Amino acid sequence: MRKYISVTLIVGFVVGIVFLSIFNWTLTLTNTEDFCISCHAMKDNSYAEFKESMHHKNKSGVRATCSDCHVPKTFFAKIKRKIAASTEVYHTLIGTIDTKEKYETHRLKMALNVWQTMTENDSKACRNCHKADNMDFEEQNKSAIKKHIKAKKEGITCIKCHKGLVHEMPEDGEEEAEKRGL
Ligand code: HEC
Ligand code: HEC
Ligand code: HEC
Ligand code: HEC
Repeated sequence: MRKYISVTLIVGFVVGIVFLSIFNWTLTLTNTEDFCISCHAMKDNSYAEFKESMHHKNKSGVRATCSDCHVPKTFFAKIKRKIAASTEVYHTLIGTIDTKEKYETHRLKMALNVWQTMTENDSKACRNCHKADNMDFEEQNKSAIKKHIKAKKEGITCIKCHKGLVHEMPEDGEEEAEKRGL
């Protein structure tokens, strides 16, 4: 009987490890730039714009890729984002953004969603890399120093000021964000 229980335990343990590994591997795979651009490079503008940005290539050689800004790092937040992202598969099937024109028409709506998320989580993704406390203000230009001191004092979040950083600002983006307090 004891032998039976320990065999069951070992089998359960191995199955658990295999399951978790596959699960983790899937999560990792669906976080790569290649995965995102398998949809986003073809007919929409997000990848082309990203390639022009400082977050793609800079003098330090540190790249922030799609998932660094769009997928949370903590487990439950990540799972939540992955589940929400499954609607992206549906929108691929019905072709919501499958031409540059459609992408532009849809851009404002998507950007507002991203701003909303980043406002709600106090620009967590940005702060995973940029620590306000570690900024050497002396190295920054005058307008940045002034704004960053004000931001710290008044608790203004990064995305409030840094919209259109990687992607182009949508038409009417500023106005629509203002209306929603983003
Ligand atoms: C299967 C194709 C596909 C893949 C893979 C994919 N996307 Fe998307 N994505 C779409 C489509 C289609 C939309 C537009 C429909 C919509 O608004 O949900 C979209 C919308 C978005 C939006 C706007 C979301 C919003 O809330 O309006 C972001 C941000 C985004 N994708 C980022 C990513 C990132 C980051 C990855 C990789 C981790 C990724 N996508 C992988 C197809 C895809
Ligand atoms: C994976 C790490 C990472 C993440 C996430 C990240 N950044 Fe950066 N950011 C960098 C690096 C690296 C540079 C380039 C630094 C250099 O070489 O000067 C940079 C540069 C910048 C710059 C100056 C260059 C420019 O394009 O104007 C701004 C502003 C900035 N980031 C803001 C943000 C904001 C806002 C977010 C969140 C939406 C964010 N970053 C997310 C790493 C990151
Ligand atoms: C109140 C508005 C405001 C807020 C909030 C804000 N910034 Fe900035 N930031 C600016 C301005 C303005 C500049 C200068 C822009 C330029 O030079 O093009 C700047 C510049 C930067 C730069 C480039 C500095 C340099 O000299 O290369 C980085 C990186 C940056 N911000 C990151 C952040 C991050 C991360 C947050 C959130 C922790 C944040 N900012 C919050 C207004 C703001
Ligand atoms: C440094 C952070 C950062 C990186 C890296 C980044 N994005 Fe974004 N993304 C944003 C922000 C912020 C927005 C909200 C709109 C804006 O401010 O431009 C956004 C908006 C979007 C949208 C909505 C449409 C739009 O143009 O506003 C899509 C789709 C998207 N991103 C996909 C991607 C994909 C795919 C990649 C990688 C090829 C990527 N993003 C890399 C920060 C980032």
